[in-house]
Amino acid sequence: MSAGHALRVPRVCAHFAMSADGKISTKNLTPSRFTSPADKSRLHLIRAANDAILAGRGTVEADTMSMGLSRLDLREERVLQGLPPEPLRVVISNEGRFNPASKIFSYTSSPLIILSTSRMPQDIRDAIAPHCDLLLFDAPSVPLRKALAMLRRDYGVKRLVCEGGGQLLRSLALEDLLDEIRLTIAPVIFGGSAAPSLTGLPSELLPEPRFFRLSKYTVSDGECALHYARRRCKD
Ligand SMILES: NC(=O)c1ccc[n+]([C@@H]2O[C@H](COP(=O)([O-])OP(=O)(O)OC[C@H]3O[C@@H](n4cnc5c(N)ncnc54)[C@H](OP(=O)(O)O)[C@@H]3O)[C@@H](O)[C@H]2O)c1
Repeated sequence: MSAGHALRVPRVCAHFAMSADGKISTKNLTPSRFTSPADKSRLHLIRAANDAILAGRGTVEADTMSMGLSRLDLREERVLQGLPPEPLRVVISNEGRFNPASKIFSYTSSPLIILSTSRMPQDIRDAIAPHCDLLLFDAPSVPLRKALAMLRRDYGVKRLVCEGGGQLLRSLALEDLLDEIRLTIAPVIFGGSAAPSLTGLPSELLPEPRFFRLSKYTVSDGECALHYARRRCKD
């Protein structure tokens, strides 16, 4: 086993909505709001069950996310369990060209961690540093496994939900860091070869397929919510 694989990382669940033709967005990367209110409610339940929420810069900016947990009952339940009211928010970017006016920086109800690299321009570092913990790696891209291990070691993150987007999910799959997928299939089709799937835009195959088993599913509001768990050796 390599030294990298010895790092203890959080359990990672990806949570996505997908059209019936396998797209997570349209070709213009419009915000991902095509599922029912019941699915939105599930998003908050899943957030509440995790220590941290992770998203890529593309998703946070496209979807103008705060990544907060707005439901008071879920916040209270977490506090009763001895947890902070909301999970940590974690956003990842190699280039670090964040818009300091993004909603994530003005939301103050839960701590924010930015994972990025020394490529982040100095003026952006200065603008966002008061609003987050800035973890900058001296490398062209964020070493994902190492960064997740730091979240576990330094912030006590044992369970993390990744809310997208496709590029980020692909990099988690590449490093075999995905343990679960929660996928809502919505009764809509978008078409478009330039519209991303779960693993982003059409690209190279993964070095090998990642297998999952379906552990649970529910059907409501015309949508199918699937829960997959990673199958690491072929049954
Ligand atoms: N249907 C759904 O459930 C769902 C979920 C999420 C997003 N979406 C949709 O997906 C679209 C956004 O797609 P996207 O591919 O742009 O999303 P993304 O993966 O969030 O954003 C891509 C950007 O995030 C950063 N990033 C991703 N993976 C990284 C890694 N391993 N290390 C460092 N930085 C990383 C990079 O930022 P830099 O360029 O700054 O380096 C990259 O350019 C939006 O339309 C959104 O609505 C849909």
